[in-house]
This record gives sequence, structure tokens and C-alpha cells, in this order.
Amino acid sequence: MQYRLAVLPGDGIGREVTSAALTVLKKIESLFSFSTEVEEADIGGAAIDRFGHPLPQRTVEICQASDAVLLGAVGGPKWDNLPGDLRPEAGLLGLRKTLQVFANLRPIRVFPELMDASPLKREVVEGSHFIIVRELTGGLYFGEPKERRQTANGLEVVDTLHYTEDEIERIVRVAFDLATKRRGHLTSVDKANVLESSRVWREVVQRVALDYPQVQVHHQLVDSAAMMMVQKPTFFDVVVTENLFGDILSDEAAVITGSLGMLPSASLSSRGPGLYEPVHGSAPDIAGQNRANPLATLLSLSMLLEHSFSQHEAASVLEKSVLSVISQGYRTADLAGRHHQALSTTEMTERVLAALEDQVGCQ
Ligand code: NAD
Ligand code: IPM
Ligand code: MN
Repeated sequence: MQYRLAVLPGDGIGREVTSAALTVLKKIESLFSFSTEVEEADIGGAAIDRFGHPLPQRTVEICQASDAVLLGAVGGPKWDNLPGDLRPEAGLLGLRKTLQVFANLRPIRVFPELMDASPLKREVVEGSHFIIVRELTGGLYFGEPKERRQTANGLEVVDTLHYTEDEIERIVRVAFDLATKRRGHLTSVDKANVLESSRVWREVVQRVALDYPQVQVHHQLVDSAAMMMVQKPTFFDVVVTENLFGDILSDEAAVITGSLGMLPSASLSSRGPGLYEPVHGSAPDIAGQNRANPLATLLSLSMLLEHSFSQHEAASVLEKSVLSVISQGYRTADLAGRHHQALSTTEMTERVLAALEDQVGCQ
């Protein structure tokens, strides 16, 4: 098989972690006898510097012509004072919207050996295994109008929370489908006590639930869901929520796993390429130092192999290799603590390459 992959390193540690992923992909190709034609393109700050725009047309075309897109991260202090629509983040949002990747899957899993890396107590995090299904192409991020206006009484500013019923229904169905393949439990997170959009969200969930009698549905307000996520994370199985709530809850959930550097994501559309990226950002505080944890990106690559390339075996072996380096005690600085030596990004990548060989050798 021959696949086409667009790689958008972006900014900061995005460049380091995508480079790690490409090294690992080369090894996987040789172990599993498929090949990938990789095309790199600019997005975010890197694209602003080269082309004056965070999402050049050429980048969009390369992504649309690919089977999947792997993205590092965008943003950084250098570009923080640009107008909203010309910031690096606008490039990423534009790409998500163009590719119509409305379903953002963010699995949260506690690795047994990392339990003590979480600031939460072991008995709280033990056994946590859930997935956040975040709506990614609607809500406050994209609603119009979105503007600042100078008025006689000073500055006035508007962001709009907009959803159509169809947009809600399609993400809710993705979540129900996932719940049927997991523990059959769905938590829909909203703010129905205040927001009209949330009241419609709840109505749609209740209507779709009639098609899934085997799934147990629980509605929860976002403020109490945020508390529950760190108080009793084992309660959750599938969590479905709108764009902004999902963004905030997924970084909170990272605390359960010990580091944001462990959280992968897949963003899927009804057709066309999927977009795979770690949940974390460009981490300007450690960028360029070869210290970033590449595992979130490698787990995102595993999701890519699974969902976009249908290379199920390769996806599973990569995931097992990540598990295995962790269980062998290898850690990057974000997880090393006092008891482990901190490996660099490239050293950790070497460990994963060795684990891949071991895994395949054992089969
Ligand atoms: P961040 O996720 O970049 O960093 C938060 C903290 O986590 C930092 O201390 C960082 O060092 C640490 N961290 C993150 N990923 C890590 C990794 N792989 N290994 C080790 N440590 C890691 O969030 P931020 O600092 O709020 O944002 C920085 C920039 O990134 C901003 O411009 C923001 O807009 C952007 N951002 C981009 C994306 C994306 O491209 N998908 C996501 C989030 C934030
Ligand atoms: C994420 C990020 C993005 C988001 C930003 C960088 C636009 O925080 O992917 O979680 O808010 O969706
Ligand atoms: Mn985020």
C-alpha cells in the first residue's frame, strides 16, 4: 500500500515532535511493508514568517490531496500581538474548518506506571479510561459576528456561540457510536441552566438516545463536570461536548495522565483526510531544547495509522511500544520527577524505535 501524508510541523516543539513522528513512521513502514509519500507544509507562525499568512493556499491543497494530516502545534509569543484572523491559531482553525473535521477524539488513559506522576492521588486516578468527543468546527470558535467595535461608550466586543441542530446531531452520533463499542456510558456536558445552545444540545442528545437504548446517558453541567473530572475520573467513559468546553476539559484531563505531553488526538470528518495532532501546544518555554515529550504525537500517529491508513496492526504495535517504553522506566523531563533520569526528545524516540523492533520480533 502507498499512502499520502501531509506533515505540518508548525511552531515551537511542534517541529521537534513531528520530526520524531516521521522517524518512527519510517521504521513502521519498513516493519509493516507499506510506504508513505510525505509532503511537508507550513502552518501557523512558520507560515506567517514565510508567506505572510497562517494558512497558505498551498498548505490547504497539500492537505486535501492527502490521506491524512499530521500536525505539530502552532503559536508562540512572537506572533501574539497580531490581529485575531492573522494569528498562528487562525491557521489551525481555518484548516479544521476547511477539512470539516468536526469530530475531535481525545482519549484519556492512565498508564499504570505513570500513576504517581499525576498530582492526583493514586486511588483517584487508578482505572481512569475515557474519551472526550469534542465538537471542533462550530460554537464560539467560529460563530459570526466575531468582532470588536468602537462605540461612543468605548470598546464593545462580540463572540457568537452558534450551532445548527445538524452540527450537534452529527457529533452526538459519533459519541453514541463510540459508547456502544466501550462501556456503554455517555456523559453529555453542557451549560443548559444558562445557555440556549446547551438546551438545544440536550434536546438533541435525548432524541438521538432513542436510537441507542443500550447506552446509558447522563447529562452534566460543565462546571460540575470539571470538578468531577479530577474528583472521580473513573466515572467517565465517553464524554461529548461543544468546542470550547471540550478544549478546557481536555487540558484538565491531562492532569490525570501526568502530562499534557501524553495526550493524543484525532479529528475526523465524514469524508476526506483526518487531522492528527497532540493536544498540547507549541510550549515556548521548552521549544528548541530537545526536551519535549514526543509520546502524545506518537500516539496521535498511532490513531492516524488506525483511522486513516487502516493499518490496524501497525497502530496497535506503536501503541504497545509507547506503553513498553513507559513501563521500562523511560521518561522525558515532564514526567521524570526525582526518581527518573530525563531523556531528551530524540533519546525517547530512539527508545520507541527499539521497542518497535522488540514488539515485532516477539510476534
Ligand atoms: P502548551 O500546551 O504549549 O504548554 C503548556 C505547558 O505544558 C508548558 O509548560 C509546556 O512546556 C508543557 N508541555 C506541553 N506539551 C509538552 C510536551 N510535549 N512535553 C513536555 N511538556 C509539554 O500551552 P500554552 O503554553 O498555553 O500555549 C503555548 C502556545 O501554543 C500558544 O501560542 C497557544 O495558542 C498554542 N497552542 C497550540 C495548540 C495547537 O497547535 N494544537 C494547542 C494548544 C496551545
Ligand atoms: C487545542 C488548542 C487550539 C484550540 C488552539 C491552539 C486554537 O488549544 O487544539 O486544544 O483551542 O482548539
Ligand atoms: Mn487546547
